Amino acid sequence: MKKKRIAILTSGGDAPGMNAAIRAVVRKALYHHLNVIGVNRGYEGLMNGDFCKMKSDSVAGIINRGGTVLKTARSQQFKTEEGFGKAVQNIKEHKIDVVVVIGGDGSMAGAQKLSEAGISTVVIPATIDRDMPGTEYTLGFDTAINTILEAVNKIKDTAFSHDRVAIIEVMGRHAGHLALMAGIACGAETILIPEVAYNIDSICEGLLHSYNRGKQYSILMVAEGVSTGSEIADQIVARTSFSPKVTVLGYLQRGGAPSAMDNIIGSRMGAAAVDSILLNQVDCLMSMQHGNIVAVQYKQVTEYKTGVDCSLQELASILAI
Ligand code: ADP
Ligand code: F6P
Repeated sequence: MKKKRIAILTSGGDAPGMNAAIRAVVRKALYHHLNVIGVNRGYEGLMNGDFCKMKSDSVAGIINRGGTVLKTARSQQFKTEEGFGKAVQNIKEHKIDVVVVIGGDGSMAGAQKLSEAGISTVVIPATIDRDMPGTEYTLGFDTAINTILEAVNKIKDTAFSHDRVAIIEVMGRHAGHLALMAGIACGAETILIPEVAYNIDSICEGLLHSYNRGKQYSILMVAEGVSTGSEIADQIVARTSFSPKVTVLGYLQRGGAPSAMDNIIGSRMGAAAVDSILLNQVDCLMSMQHGNIVAVQYKQVTEYKTGVDCSLQELASILAI
């Protein structure tokens, strides 16, 4: 029987745990005598033919590292007919049977487009934003909220000492999962997420209420998709006598050694992707559902549960503590 040839790439924003997934795919595929080709820089590499042969050694010593050893890119050119055509041509010329894509929802849209053009693909969900349809977990989220928690604990020490309002701006252009979960984990008094409209007057009232109760410092967590931390600070300054101090956590949220959870789930999803390919179950997302990893066809991802794990009512009751 002809040995299958698979290609593997990482795309979109890097996320801790991507290396664990790459390692699991490569090692398990080689164990089953598949050929594995690494594609550098995501869809850019597919278009440019930036390929390398993956051996067992290629993934040695990478599981403890954040980022992605295959590098990643956001590629506008891949979205064009010409760029997409080049990628398809390279895949065919290299006789690749399945492309394993590790990335977020944009990367999954690219994989789905390849599938529609007759190229088999499998997606492993990875983004610190945890905002993909069809899966309860995306690689990188756990590491990122722990990174935020560590940073906020430090900021809290100084905010407490100076009786200050500390505003922490975190990532999340379109989704508030990071702000929400990190905010709960660090005991933030206020959490602003893109999914819920905020009212600056009631935020100021809340700060005053806390202050009058004797709590002289506060943590306000804001997802970048809502506003910048500085804009929120200006609005508070205009309405109260507080002088909030703003910290923008920025790219440090994306880096760092992956948590045990991201490495374990990355390894499980990588192994599940190879199992799926061996069963000819392709054009699907390796989805986390109730702790299990299941292959969900792209067309069905919207029918499955996503990463939302705290209802707004539950959040309101937590913030009222
Ligand atoms: P993420 O995968 O983290 O959501 P992006 O949204 O930047 O990151 O998507 C990664 C890449 O996937 C894009 O740079 C682009 O090359 C490709 N991509 C995104 N959306 C589409 C689409 N609708 N069709 C084809 N390719 C897409
Ligand atoms: O990976 C997701 C994300 O971190 C978003 O939360 C953030 O807004 C965005 O990527 C920034 O990505 P970049 O500046 O690398 O394009």
